[in-house]
Amino acid sequence: MKTIAVIGVGYVGLVTGACLADLGNRVTCLDINEERIEKLKQGIMPIFEPGLEEVVRRNVAAGRLFFTTDYDEAINRPPAEMVFIAVGTPEGVDGEADLRYVRAVAERVAEVMDHPLIIINKSTVPVGTGDWVADIVRSRQPQPIPFAVVSNPEFLREGSAISDFMNPDRIVLGSLDREAAQKVAQLYLSLRAPIMITDLRTAEMIKYASNAFLATKISFINEIANICEALGADVKEVAAGMGYDKRIGRAFLDAGIGYGGSCFPKDVKALAHMANIQGKHPQLLEAVMQINADARRSIVAKVRNLIGNNSGTLRKLEGKVVGVLGLAFKPNTDDIRESPGIDIIRMLQADGATVRAYDPVAMENAARVLTNVTLCRDAYETAEGCDALVLATEWNEFKHLDLPRLKQVMRQPVIVDGRNIYEPAVMREHGFIYRGVGRGY
Ligand SMILES: NC(=O)c1ccc[n+]([C@@H]2O[C@H](COP(=O)([O-])OP(=O)(O)OC[C@H]3O[C@@H](n4cnc5c(N)ncnc54)[C@H](O)[C@@H]3O)[C@@H](O)[C@H]2O)c1
Repeated sequence: MKTIAVIGVGYVGLVTGACLADLGNRVTCLDINEERIEKLKQGIMPIFEPGLEEVVRRNVAAGRLFFTTDYDEAINRPPAEMVFIAVGTPEGVDGEADLRYVRAVAERVAEVMDHPLIIINKSTVPVGTGDWVADIVRSRQPQPIPFAVVSNPEFLREGSAISDFMNPDRIVLGSLDREAAQKVAQLYLSLRAPIMITDLRTAEMIKYASNAFLATKISFINEIANICEALGADVKEVAAGMGYDKRIGRAFLDAGIGYGGSCFPKDVKALAHMANIQGKHPQLLEAVMQINADARRSIVAKVRNLIGNNSGTLRKLEGKVVGVLGLAFKPNTDDIRESPGIDIIRMLQADGATVRAYDPVAMENAARVLTNVTLCRDAYETAEGCDALVLATEWNEFKHLDLPRLKQVMRQPVIVDGRNIYEPAVMREHGFIYRGVGRGY
């Protein structure tokens, strides 16, 4: 059993804290957001993540998991051997990662620590941040106390975070202090995953390279989808045919609305920014980002082409009602950061459309950022009076809709499927005018 502090209780920090407690450690999770910590003390989860509440409850009850806003308590009482940094690293100016939260944590840890500590960075941070954190800690300590910095990038996915944390494909640890990295490795031994120990900068780069590669796969298949549309081929079958090849693999070859969320968009941008400031020209990454932006725009273009006004005086979707199904950036999460659905709603509104929308769990978050959108109770209420429906998130409950009922309540039976979850022939049989992505009409 190790005594651990986790700083930042968002999607990564809370899952990390709860899972490390579940592996038998004593974990104190800290956040500066008092409301979050108060809720957690009452057993209320601040985020939607399947299975999280149960793991948190189990470990709080077992006396292994604690919540606080007090750095001294988290780090010194009792003395933590390790502290994980799991705060956000959002997009800053020109795509550069904004490290202000990481800096704030490093400064507070340095000011407060009264014993030797291993500082582990779980946030996704630009290459070189580990060295920078070490400099900050050294310069902020009231008196020198030994510490080591280890990079331990996180690869979990929202929506399956607990299972991903407990069954990782690999654990990556980077440090100049091999002994510290070995100690962190012990935390993960029972997960039976390959553990790779490397230097700090390489570990930081592995995270960016992994996310950039996955984003590239998505943009690649979206490019193929575009070509399929022009040539009358079906990208779903193309992806299936490609995926049988072990060198390619089927994962991340789903054509559609493109990637979103709190990681891929900002991480690809941050990697491109890192390359640019070194005088490199990341042409592939630039194309990946452009194709992704086009994927969203092309969904709106399809709506325009199908139901848009032809009069020169009206905006293209003036007087039209469009329903959007799905506001979370992907299923099984309430996270709407960089959500394609939200982006598409704004584009539809800019074209003059009246928008109705629904998401199974992300309504509360969406309500905070959307204006003039009628938020509905379910897919059928959303479809009422609509000239078109856009499917933006592939929640399971949208996969088996009662199609005759849906058609009956719509003003025009038009569906633009941004996730290719319906079969074009079935939709046509039910009398819909249907457009997927890359499905050769
Ligand atoms: N969300 C994911 O799926 C995912 C997956 C892998 C890696 N990551 C990376 O992990 C990091 C965290 O992402 P997230 O989605 O969990 O972020 P998040 O926004 O959900 O949570 C960040 C938390 O940090 C807290 N915080 C900010 N400043 C603080 C401070 N000074 N002291 C204490 N707490 C502070 C915030 O209040 C918030 O609760 C990011 O770098 C992200 O790129 C995220």
